[in-house]
Amino acid sequence: MLPLETLTVGPMVVDTVSEATTLLLVLLLLLLVTAWCRANRSHIPGPSFLAGLGPILSYSRFIWTGIGTASNYYNNKYGSIVRVWINGEETLILSRSSAVYHVLKSAHYTARFGSKKGLECVGMEGRGIIFNSDVLLWSKVRTYFSKALTGPGLQRTVGICVSSTAKHLDRLQEMTDPFRHVDALNLLRAVVVEISNKLFLRVPLNEKDLLKKIQNYFETWETVLIKPDIFFKIGWLYNKHRRAAQELQDVMESLLEIKRKIINESEKLDDDLDFATELIFAQNVGELSADNVRQCVLEMVIAAPDTLSISLFFMLMLLKQNPDVELRIVEEMNTVLTENGENIDYQSLKVLESFINESLRFHPVVDFTMRKALEDDNIEGTKITKGTNIILNIGLMHKTEFFPKPAEFSLMNFDKTVPSRFFQPFGCGPRSCVGKHIAMVMMKTILVTLLSRYTVCPRRGCTLDSIKQTNNLSQQPVEDEHSLAMRFIPRTT
Ligand code: HEM
Ligand SMILES: *[C@@H]1O[C@H](CO)[C@@H](O)[C@H](O)[C@H]1NC(C)=O
Ligand SMILES: *[C@@H]1O[C@H](CO)[C@@H](O)[C@H](O)[C@H]1NC(C)=O
Ligand SMILES: *[C@@H]1O[C@H](CO)[C@@H](O)[C@H](O)[C@H]1NC(C)=O
Ligand SMILES: *[C@@H]1O[C@H](CO)[C@@H](O)[C@H](O)[C@H]1NC(C)=O
Repeated sequence: MLPLETLTVGPMVVDTVSEATTLLLVLLLLLLVTAWCRANRSHIPGPSFLAGLGPILSYSRFIWTGIGTASNYYNNKYGSIVRVWINGEETLILSRSSAVYHVLKSAHYTARFGSKKGLECVGMEGRGIIFNSDVLLWSKVRTYFSKALTGPGLQRTVGICVSSTAKHLDRLQEMTDPFRHVDALNLLRAVVVEISNKLFLRVPLNEKDLLKKIQNYFETWETVLIKPDIFFKIGWLYNKHRRAAQELQDVMESLLEIKRKIINESEKLDDDLDFATELIFAQNVGELSADNVRQCVLEMVIAAPDTLSISLFFMLMLLKQNPDVELRIVEEMNTVLTENGENIDYQSLKVLESFINESLRFHPVVDFTMRKALEDDNIEGTKITKGTNIILNIGLMHKTEFFPKPAEFSLMNFDKTVPSRFFQPFGCGPRSCVGKHIAMVMMKTILVTLLSRYTVCPRRGCTLDSIKQTNNLSQQPVEDEHSLAMRFIPRTT
């Protein structure tokens, strides 16, 4: 028995000793981890880790105040390069032009980030273009967008923009309430969605119904983009959004079905095929999946109503707040109109272009853009690890560098040629806004057509500062009551 007893005592002694060593080891490890964290991260400013509380706090801020508002908060508090956490992932927010330009130009940042489940909900995970981070598939799809949005396609755009705007202005009565107020934002949305359809899809559709569904889809996109996985398990929170996304996808599917019939029945196709036709052909030869084709068409149809129409709305507000600018624009328009009759040279409208630029700088719809590092990199001494999320805070960049009157709306900001790295409303490089050229053409033609017939007048006391706005995924007015209504007063010349 004796040997057995010593044997049982032996391990007991070893146990207490090992407990002490384990404790010591854990302490040492903790120390090491803290040191490692400091060594590795101390050079990037940002909220501290605080044993895991930091990431929770910064994520909460992003969820509650919106991505745009939170980004501005952190850049204002910690400087032009900040490290935060979104859903536990390290995220850098950049607002310094040199750092932003580095990311825009580089091929290492051609992916975006967002909740996988959220992107699946809106059909953007590994599909379409806007948030597709399957880089091979994205670059294949992007060629179809580029083809439709640049080159000969731009020529047709002018005529379609003029006629669609004129048509809606002719029917202004239908959108006017008894107090002669027009819901300007929805008028602009209707104009823009008709233009998109005429350019890219060419199928008869119910504009009003489609617009409602586009708005609901956008709201869902905004809501789910960075939500934690648990959100998608809570039926009463999530189902409404799931349905909103599905409804627009269903509309797109049925519009594509009609388009397929039209293609099938037409004897001979036009020389310049539209976007939807090209995609359907790509599907027919097995280049793209049906789901992907539907998502691409959906994103092409929502792109302009979600961005351009709201930009134009802000521009109408700014115009009224700056009557001297409106006067200069109208004067310039009149000289060009009388010189050339019907065919306006939109390139020569420099005052208008400065006004559009200054509006995009001073009150942007797209305030920031989301990217992901695909490789390790170094931005001006800051080490970037592969997989890091990046937010380019372009809106703040436009208000903190280069411009002579950064905090004011003034065309003087564009008197001198602005070097491109200081002004990037559409981004540049491989993942820039693929619609940047067509967007400028659309904004100019719609504004000229509208302003040559009407001057607008927002409700009394209604300015860009006074209307309620959100800045989650993009900066948008809150559409409550009638605060966005405007009177359209015919111009007498
Ligand atoms: C005032 C109007 C617009 C503004 C301010 C705007 C701005 C932007 C910005 C900042 C980006 C992100 C770029 C980046 O990550 O570097 C973007 C992406 C994009 N825009 Fe626009 N945009 C506008 C209009 C349009 C229009 C009219 C279209 C198409 C008809 C369009 C299609 C797209 C697409 C497809 C992307 C995603 C590109 C990609 O991820 O490869 N945009 N836009
Ligand atoms: C920083 O972290 C990386 C991995 O993320 C590691 O390889 C590197 O050794 C760390 N640097 C320091 C100084 O601890
Ligand atoms: C956007 O952010 C605001 C806070 O500024 C919030 O009240 C609103 O519900 C958010 N909207 C969506 C769709 O996430
Ligand atoms: C196109 O027409 C052929 C017969 O001409 C038919 O077999 C096919 O199902 C049609 N496709 C569509 C999408 O309507
Ligand atoms: C407006 O901005 C664009 C860049 O988006 C630039 O190419 C153009 O020269 C600017 N126009 C004026 C008049 O400043």
